[in-house]
Amino acid sequence: MAELTHFYEKFQPAHYNIYLDINRETKQFSGKTTITGDAKTTAISIHQKFLNIETVQADGKDVPFTTDDANEAIQITLSKTGETTLTITYQAKLTDTMMGIYPSYYEVDGVKKQIIGTQFETTAARQAFPSVDEPEAKATFDLAIKFDEHPGETIISNMPEVRTENGVHYFDTTMRMSTYLIAFGFGELQSKTTTTKSGVKVGVFATKAHKADELDFALDIAKRSIEFYEDFYQTKYPLPHSWQLALPDFSAGAMENWGLVTYREAYLLLDPKNTSFEMKQLVATVIAHELAHQWFGDLVTMKWWDDLWLNESFANMMEYVAVDAIEPDWHVWEMFQTSDVSAALQRDATDGVQSVHVDVEDPAEIDSLFDAAIVYAKGARMLVMARALVGDDALRKGLENYFAAHKFHNATGDDLWSALGEASGMDVGAIMKTWLDQPGYPVVTAKLADGQVTLTQNQFFIGDGQDAGRKWSIPLNSNYAEVPELMTDKTITVADYDKLRAAHGTPFLLNVGNNSHFIVQYDQTLMKDILQNVDQLGAISQLQILQDLRLLADGKKTSYATFAPLLPRFANSHGNVVNAALYRAANKLKQFVTPKSAEEKQLKAFFNQLSSQQLARLGWTPKAGEANDDQLMRPYILSAALYAENAAAIKDAHQLFTDNADNLGGLSADIRVFVLRNEVKNFGSAELFDNLLNAYRQTADASYKADISAALTSTTDPQLIAKLVEKFEDADTIKPQDLRAWFRGVLANDDGQQAAWDWIRNDWQWLEDTVGGDMEFATYITVIASVFKTSTRLAEFKAFFEPKLPTPGLTREIKMDISVIESRVNLINEEKDAVNAAIAKAVQK
Ligand code: BES
Ligand code: ZN
Repeated sequence: MAELTHFYEKFQPAHYNIYLDINRETKQFSGKTTITGDAKTTAISIHQKFLNIETVQADGKDVPFTTDDANEAIQITLSKTGETTLTITYQAKLTDTMMGIYPSYYEVDGVKKQIIGTQFETTAARQAFPSVDEPEAKATFDLAIKFDEHPGETIISNMPEVRTENGVHYFDTTMRMSTYLIAFGFGELQSKTTTTKSGVKVGVFATKAHKADELDFALDIAKRSIEFYEDFYQTKYPLPHSWQLALPDFSAGAMENWGLVTYREAYLLLDPKNTSFEMKQLVATVIAHELAHQWFGDLVTMKWWDDLWLNESFANMMEYVAVDAIEPDWHVWEMFQTSDVSAALQRDATDGVQSVHVDVEDPAEIDSLFDAAIVYAKGARMLVMARALVGDDALRKGLENYFAAHKFHNATGDDLWSALGEASGMDVGAIMKTWLDQPGYPVVTAKLADGQVTLTQNQFFIGDGQDAGRKWSIPLNSNYAEVPELMTDKTITVADYDKLRAAHGTPFLLNVGNNSHFIVQYDQTLMKDILQNVDQLGAISQLQILQDLRLLADGKKTSYATFAPLLPRFANSHGNVVNAALYRAANKLKQFVTPKSAEEKQLKAFFNQLSSQQLARLGWTPKAGEANDDQLMRPYILSAALYAENAAAIKDAHQLFTDNADNLGGLSADIRVFVLRNEVKNFGSAELFDNLLNAYRQTADASYKADISAALTSTTDPQLIAKLVEKFEDADTIKPQDLRAWFRGVLANDDGQQAAWDWIRNDWQWLEDTVGGDMEFATYITVIASVFKTSTRLAEFKAFFEPKLPTPGLTREIKMDISVIESRVNLINEEKDAVNAAIAKAVQK
C-alpha cells in the first residue's frame, strides 16, 4: 500500500535504546526498544515488519495499539503530544532472506558454521526493531545485544563496545543517523586492524574459512581511501572506527552501514598472491564506493528515497576518483569506460527505460526502480559530466560546504546543486536536469555538406522507440575549439570545415574522452577521415569508434555487415580498452551464426585472424613486470583464440591443466578460467566434473569459485548439464547469492539453454520464494533477455512472462526485455546473410 504520509511527520525520534536477545539455535530473537521522541499528534505510527509485538507503553503506561501489517506499522494512540518515551517489546524470527538480521552459512574443515549479520537498506531495519524507519528520522542509538555466545566469538557494530555485563554487549551511543545504516555482526571472526594518519581505527573482519592474508588488500585500500576522502572532502571521518565485514551470504554487493560496512566475500577478500589485476581493481572500487558513502549518504543523508540515485551515482563516481588518486598507475577510469559507460549506453537506448531521477512515494517501489545500469552507471556518468563542467576545485569546495551545512542531517539533490553552483558560479543544476529527469540519450549526427558540418541531436533507440522530441544540453567536447562547448538546440552548424581540418591537422571528433552521455554518427566523409588516421588516435577514441558503431548497428543506423570488416584494423592494439570494445563488438557477431554451421566455422576463422598475432605476443603465461594493459587484455585474446578453436591454444591450455592438476586453484588467476573451460569443453569427463564441483564447494576463494562456475557451465554433455541444473536449488553447493551466474552460464551455453530455460519456468515459484525479496530477482529476466535470439524463444518468453506483467517490480523489466529480444530477432533476420557474407570475405583476405 502506498504510504502517503511519512511517519516522521507524526513522531520524531531523538534517541533509541535497543536491546536484542538473539538465539541462533532456535532462530528466534526477542527485543525491547525504547524510543524517546516528539509526538506531533496523538495517533502515531511506528514501523515494524514481521515482528510479533507484545507490549507497547508510553511513558511507562500501557497504551492502545494495533499491528497493521499492510502498512508495516504499529498504530499507537497516545494520551498527549510532545516529548514521549515509547517502550515496545516483541519477538521475531531469523530467516534466510538476507534481509534484517540473518544468518550466513559457511564451512571450516567440513564443519558447518554460521555468523549473524544485518542488511537494513532500504526498509528492513523495521524487521529488527520498531522504529520510524525513514531516512529523515535521524536519531542517536544505544545498542545492547545478547546472543547464545560461545568462547572465541566476537561481536561488532557501528560503534565500539563499551562494556559487557551478564553476557550483554553494550555499544557506545551513535552519532545522529538514519535507521537503515545501523548494523551489527557476530560469530567466530578473524580480523586485521590499522590506524589512519588522523587516528581512525580501520579493520577488516571475516570468517575463519579464509586465510589471514586474504584480509590484507582490503585493509590497505580502506585505510588509504579514508585518508583520501578526509582530504578531498576536507571533512574528518566522524566515527572512532571503520570496520569492513565480509558476510558469506549477502544479497547486494556491499552496504555502507556507518562504521560497519558489510560486503560479499568476493568484494572484500582476496588472495594477494594469486588474484587477477581486474579483480583487485574491482574490490578496490567497491571498498572506495562504500567508504565514499560514509560522508555522502551517512553523514549527510538524502531526505527521502527519491534521491537514492544521488547517493549511489555519487558514490559510483567517487569510487573511481578515489582509486585513481591512491593508485594512479592503474588508470582505473578505463574500467569506468569498459564497464559503466557501456552498460549505461546499452540499457539507456531501450524505450521504456527509467530516468535517473524518478519521483517515488512508496518505499516498496524503490527496489523495483533500482535499475543499476541507470541509477549507478548513467548516474555516475552524469556526475562525471558535472565534475568536468565545474572542475575539481569547485567540486571540493562545494562538497565541503555541503557537508558543513547538512552534517548529521538530511539534504536533497537541489541542495547539492546549489552548493556546487555557488562554488563554481555556474547553474549546474539546470544543465543536469535535462539528463536526470529524461530517459534516454541522443545520437548526434555530423554531416559535411557545402563546406560546413551540421550537427543534429535525436534520441537514440535500439529497437522500436517513440520519438518524444527530447532535447539535451550536450557538452560536445570537440577536438576543434571552434565548436561550441554546449549544444542546447536540436541543430547547429560549424562553418569553414576545410579550413578547420587544415588548421588542426587531425580528423574532426566529438565527445573526446567519452565523458558526455551521447554517441556520434559521422557521415561517410568524416568517418573515412577518422579511419584513415585511426592509429594516431588515443585508446579512448578508438574505443569510442568501436562502441558507437556497435550501438549504431544495434540501432540499425548502420549495419553489422559494414562494421565487421573494420574490426581487424583494431586487432593489434596494445590498449586494453580498445580490445575490450573490439571483442565486445566481435562477440556480437556470434548472434548471426547458427551453432555448428558452416557460417560458425567462418566466424571462428575470423576470430582466429583477429587474435592470432596477439596470442603469439602475449602467450598463456603472464610475464613478470608486463604492462597492466597486457595483463588486462590477455583474457580477451585467450577467449577469442579458444572460441576460434586455435589448435595451439587448446594444446597449451591442456598442457597447463595437466601440469597443475594437483593444485588447479594455484593456476594463475589471470588465465585459470580459460584453462578450466578448455578442459571441460574439449577434454571433459564425469570425473573432472565431480572434481571441479568438489573444489567449488571446498574453496573459500571467490575468484576461483567464479572460474569453476564458468568452466562447469560450459560443458556440452547433456547428462552433466542435467546434474548441474539439479544443483541450482542445493544451497550447500550453490548459494542463492551466486545462482544467477550459474544460471546465466548454462543458459548461454547452446547445449544447456533448453535445460536452464525449462528449469526457470518450472521452478519460478521456488526462485521467487528464495530471491524474490531481492533487487536481483528482476535481473534474472534481464539475463534471459541478454541471451535469447530466435523467434521461437521470443514467443516462449512472451508466453511465460506476459502473464507476469502485473507483478510489481517486474512490469518495466518484462516490457523492456520483450523489446530487447524482439529487436535482436529482427536484426538477425534482416542482416544474417549480409553479415555472414561480409565475414566470409574478410576471412579470405
Ligand atoms: N547502498 C548500496 C546497496 C543497496 C542499495 C542496498 C539499495 C539496498 C538498496 C551500496 O552502497 C551499493 O551501492 N552496493 C553495490 C556495490 C557497489 C560497490 C557498486 C551493490 O550492492 O551492487
Ligand atoms: Zn552505494
